[in-house]
This record gives sequence, C-alpha cells and structure tokens, in this order.
Amino acid sequence: MSGNELKLCGRVRVLPTVDELYDELAGALMSAAEAAVAERGVFHMALSGGSSPGPFYMRLVTDPRFRGVPWHATHVWMVDERRVPVTDDRSNFKMIRETLVDQVALPVGHAHPVPTMLEDPAGVYERELRGAMNLEGGVPVLDFVLLGMGEDAHTASLFAGSPAIGVRDRLIANNDGPCVTPPPRVTMTYPLLNAARELAVLVTGKKKASTLRLVDEQLRGKGPDPGRLPITGVRPGRGKMTWYLDAAAAGEVDP
Ligand code: 6PG
Repeated sequence: MSGNELKLCGRVRVLPTVDELYDELAGALMSAAEAAVAERGVFHMALSGGSSPGPFYMRLVTDPRFRGVPWHATHVWMVDERRVPVTDDRSNFKMIRETLVDQVALPVGHAHPVPTMLEDPAGVYERELRGAMNLEGGVPVLDFVLLGMGEDAHTASLFAGSPAIGVRDRLIANNDGPCVTPPPRVTMTYPLLNAARELAVLVTGKKKASTLRLVDEQLRGKGPDPGRLPITGVRPGRGKMTWYLDAAAAGEVDP
C-alpha cells in the first residue's frame, strides 16, 4: 500500500524525503499564520515536543523562504509537556525555546511554557489559554497545531489507557499513571485539539510505518479507538487535518 492510499483522518501528504516534507509543512504553517493575522490580527499555534519536530523548527526559523511568518503577532503554546523544570533536557519547552523561540522576534509574553512545577499546571495553563484567546463556542480555537505520533499511536501526552484520554470537560489535563511514559505529563485534550482550525501531524521514519498501518486498518474497520490508538481520537470539527509523512513512514521504502 502506498502512503497516499492510507485511510487516515484528513489529507495525507507523502514526500520522498524529510527535507521536502519540512518544506511543505513550513509552507503550510506560514500560510496559516499569514491568514490568521490578516483575518484576526494574531496567530495562535501549538507545538509538540519529542525528537521529530526539532529539526523542523530549526528549518522554519533559518530558511529565508519562511521569513514571512509574522512572528510579531504569533503566540507559541505547548501541545504537551513533561512535569519537569524548563531547564531539564526532558522539557519540551526547553527544546522549542532553543530551536525556535530564542531564534525569532516573538514579543514578550508570546511564548507560553507550561507552569510544570505548580500543583495544578493544567488548571493554570487552561486559564492562561482562555484569557489570551477569543472563544468560539466556549472553546479557544487554535489556528495551527503541530502533532507527532509515537510508535504506540499516542499523540500529545494522550497515552492509551491513560486518564486524559477520557477528559471532555477540560481543555488541558494533567496526565499520569502506569500508562503514561514518565515523567508525569500535562496535555491538551481532544476537545481543544479537535476545535483547532488546522492540525498537522508530522510522522517520519520507517519505525512508524507499522503504526500508521494499524491506524489505517482501525479506521477502515471499526472506526476511531482513542483508548487503544490515541491518535484516532484527533478528528477536527470544522478544521482541517493533514498528515505529513516521509516515504519511510508511509511504508514506501524497503523495510
Ligand atoms: C512528547 C511529544 C509527543 C511526541 C510523540 C512523537 O512530549 O514526547 O509531544 O507526543 O509528539 O511522542 O515523538 P517523536 O516525534 O519523538 O517520535
């Protein structure tokens, strides 16, 4: 099966190399940012951590083709975070600050790290998010959300069998327990993710090919099963969703 035949929620873009994939993803992010600022004067984007997106963030901020991103009107939110200090190498914000935030002219107060060391970081972060954004239908609508996918089909810090999977009355949740890869986490929940105007899922490398096939089979068969394959719970309402896969993740290169 070629990647373009994968049945995933939304559009599937398969590019031969990661380099070409970053170019297309950066172009989509810049277009979303320009449209948001033109229409509403501000661009709210939420970024994921992990190992995949770091090189993409560096491409976005160094490649002159993407100099058009309106950083002066951009807010950077965290899709999820590990409950460690921002100086800890496991911190997603540490990686995003080093690869992106410190490289662009974001106005003061436009980078939003999660207050991980407070007693209830999710509650504080949700109040910050609600206070900074316009609500549509009672929910803040993020303009662009970049997600990854683990080999276990988790996304954000929504892990199979973990408490945050079932949260529908909050936008941000603390997540912990035997199903959560340590350390304890804070994560955006499905209600917030699925309200976004645009979702992009960046998946690269042949290690992810079998997981994408599992997701494809699930969606062709019984339909979304967030409890077992959390990424299948990401199903935007009015927004659009695009999967950015390299040929290896799409299973188009020899195993
Ligand atoms: C995290 C990330 C996580 C990530 C996936 C994929 O906190 O680890 O936010 O959700 O997107 O684990 O990670 P890789 O891109 O490193 O495979």
